[in-house]
Amino acid sequence: MRAAVHERYGAPDVVRIIETDAPAPAEHEVLVRVEASVVGVTDSAGRSGTPRFARLFFGLVKPKHPVLGSDFAGVVERVGARVGRFAPGDRVFGTIAPASGAHAELLAIAEDGPIVHVPRQLDQAGAAAIVDGFLTALPFLRDLAHVQPGQTVLVNGASGTVGSAAVQLAKQYGATVVGVCSSANEQLVRSLGADRVIDRARADFADERGAYDVIFDAVGKRSFGACRGALAEHGIYLSTVPSAAILVQALVTRWFGRGRRAGITFTGLRDAQQKAADLALLVDLVERGALVPVIDRVVPFDDIVEAYRRVDTGRKAGSVVLTMAPVRVQEVAP
Ligand SMILES: NC(=O)c1ccc[n+]([C@@H]2O[C@H](COP(=O)([O-])OP(=O)(O)OC[C@H]3O[C@@H](n4cnc5c(N)ncnc54)[C@H](OP(=O)(O)O)[C@@H]3O)[C@@H](O)[C@H]2O)c1
Repeated sequence: MRAAVHERYGAPDVVRIIETDAPAPAEHEVLVRVEASVVGVTDSAGRSGTPRFARLFFGLVKPKHPVLGSDFAGVVERVGARVGRFAPGDRVFGTIAPASGAHAELLAIAEDGPIVHVPRQLDQAGAAAIVDGFLTALPFLRDLAHVQPGQTVLVNGASGTVGSAAVQLAKQYGATVVGVCSSANEQLVRSLGADRVIDRARADFADERGAYDVIFDAVGKRSFGACRGALAEHGIYLSTVPSAAILVQALVTRWFGRGRRAGITFTGLRDAQQKAADLALLVDLVERGALVPVIDRVVPFDDIVEAYRRVDTGRKAGSVVLTMAPVRVQEVAP
């Protein structure tokens, strides 16, 4: 099979496509022919080895995961002897995070892992694009913030992968949603359900005293200290991006705080069964027309370097999705 590999850390052009061995599914695993996969911020960190602490996970000296990519959509190619939920030909999508290997033509995943059938409302690119944003935003908004109807939720970075999912989920929970983005993405964020959009070049949401029950900094660009004054009395600030400060603030405000709190979680490290249950929930919401994927662009697999360049701008709106070359059908002589 073809796979995109990087043998050293660096700029997007360290990635190249090679022929390598296909994985063999164990008896409880499904072999998926990948049709779409996502190049995300985490893949960029794994490729570049930055920020430096990312190397604790990706390899101290050189990359220990040469094939990146975790979120995929594809078709079941083959199933292990004990697989009952899936059959060859099924359209499926899911994630192998925190492992990687989806930037390849084939991957293997346990049938009871985060893999579900693609609902008819989604094409393969849309299915792959659903995964990262929603499986990240859901635990933040539901499990940490416990968003309730009538609350006011601000999403900073509302046009990004995580932010665009957060806007839609917060609306589903009955919140009034305020999205912060650049003027170019204002219409997009409104179309996802935001009640108000703040152009981040023209106004600073942090100046609005006591306005928000939840501030979800989906891009980790503002600190708890800067946002604290904009939180309501028992409000919570959440960030997707780890730092020493947020880790300490989350602990301290949880143990001792009576008022405003800070929180962070690492959604990729959650239990596979939790992710599987959340994927099923997302499928239900997609089938009811309550959620849509947001795709910045679709890039052919052969142009994966370009996909990385786009992610590295930090300005993508939604997800960058790779599509694999169509499977070549061998011609049969008449
Ligand atoms: N903790 C976890 O479990 C977890 C899981 C997944 C991802 N993450 C992290 O979540 C972060 C966001 O990922 P993502 O894929 O959603 O990012 P993304 O799609 O790359 O975000 C891009 C968006 O960020 C906005 N932006 C850029 N600079 C900004 C600034 N200074 N202030 C406000 N918005 C700004 C831009 O929107 P405008 O140009 O419209 O403003 C752009 O559309 C990443 O750091 C990723 O590592 C964490």
